[in-house]
Amino acid sequence: MVARAWHPGSWRDMPIRQVPDYPDLAKLAEMEAKIGRFPPLVFAGEARRLKAALAQAGDGQGFVLQGGDCAESFSDFTANVIRDTFRVLLQMSVVLTFGASVPVVKLGRMAGQFAKPRSSDVEKKGEVTLPSYRGDIVNGPDFDAASRIPDPARMEFAYMQSAGTLNLLRAFATGGYADLHEVHRWNLGFVARSPMAARYADLSQRIDETLNFMAACGMTSTSAPQIRETEFYTSHESLLLPYEQALTRTDSLTGDSYACSAHFLWIGDRTRQPDGAHVEFLRGVKNPIGMKVGPSMEAEELVRLTEILNPANEKGRLTLISRMGAGKVEEKLAPLVRAVAKAGRNVVWLCDPMHGNTVSAGPYKTRPFDAILAEVRGFFDVHAAEGTHPGGVHVEMTGQEVTECLGGAHKLTEGDLSRAYQTNCDPRLNAEQSLELAFLIAEELKARRVRPEQPALAAQ
Ligand code: PEP
Ligand code: CO
Repeated sequence: MVARAWHPGSWRDMPIRQVPDYPDLAKLAEMEAKIGRFPPLVFAGEARRLKAALAQAGDGQGFVLQGGDCAESFSDFTANVIRDTFRVLLQMSVVLTFGASVPVVKLGRMAGQFAKPRSSDVEKKGEVTLPSYRGDIVNGPDFDAASRIPDPARMEFAYMQSAGTLNLLRAFATGGYADLHEVHRWNLGFVARSPMAARYADLSQRIDETLNFMAACGMTSTSAPQIRETEFYTSHESLLLPYEQALTRTDSLTGDSYACSAHFLWIGDRTRQPDGAHVEFLRGVKNPIGMKVGPSMEAEELVRLTEILNPANEKGRLTLISRMGAGKVEEKLAPLVRAVAKAGRNVVWLCDPMHGNTVSAGPYKTRPFDAILAEVRGFFDVHAAEGTHPGGVHVEMTGQEVTECLGGAHKLTEGDLSRAYQTNCDPRLNAEQSLELAFLIAEELKARRVRPEQPALAAQ
């Protein structure tokens, strides 16, 4: 079969789902043209570096930590919110790096995670039915008719917020904030008063000792910039294709097309049809890309999708983000992992333990911490049984002290949810629950690590 020609707009010829109902298409086209003239937010070379890091994780030489808001929000656009999420991701990352002795690839669901797929086109409250909220890049979250009208002008604000967020993230990553000598200071705020604090302080102490030892050996922040700086990448769901197309650029070095709204884009579980518009768009850009894999995925279809999305079978190009639910992960994931391995397809497997574990508690959507942890453990079990690599995790989390997910060290209950339920969309782990999850994952990784020299040592 001859592959169809791809170009940044070829998705427009394909069937598409989850499309906002813009009342003024001329205004939409004007905005696409305007954003098409804006500078790219990321560069092709950065996307290639991330791809190389993901390739290593796919080979078991690294672990991916992808995390951030379910939906970023225009009303929450402050330096503190960005810093706090970044800080918790750094904390999680040192816990994983130190606990499991693997390099961690840090990938924020940040600086562009604005578009949301919805199960229903409408939301009903009492007698009133309105279009669903589709993320701040499309319409507003308030339940009134005016807010819910899709407005292309929101794309421009989303671009500006992404640029501002990315600017701060770059400054944090390279300007001293992420220096490992600062590891104690990342633990400010309410986490410092939490049951996680002592564990984290102990870890920081050990990192300090290691840094002192390294300095005595001549390795300092000056001689080893990895101590002073970190690499931090951005990602979001590639859902609003007019926006993504408008930010697609040709790399002057290679002549290839890159989506320049983020380093990494993924296809959601609702828009992963092999002949659909979202798959069509991402198959042609050269960024590292992801795809959510939910319980309705069949093995044959998955292998076909890996061929469409990664025809050259390039390592690091395609990340499969499994989101099955705690009760289903073993049964559903194992045949998929097996089929992909049997077909010889190179992928990085991540576990999203959030989206298959959403339950209702009165008016709230929530997720039990225990189910989240159980899905991660099930994911590790499947990979151990299949002889494949668990490449990382994908979580919805925030640095704020929210009460959206149940359980964790503070044992949040349904009665606690109303206290600080702030998400515009799905429930997120708060800073403390995120850190706790990182400690538990590090323990799992450490326990499961089979070092070839271990049996020999034990036998001595
Ligand atoms: C999400 O990541 O917020 C999301 C909608 O996930 P999924 O496509 O897996 O349902
Ligand atoms: Co979500």
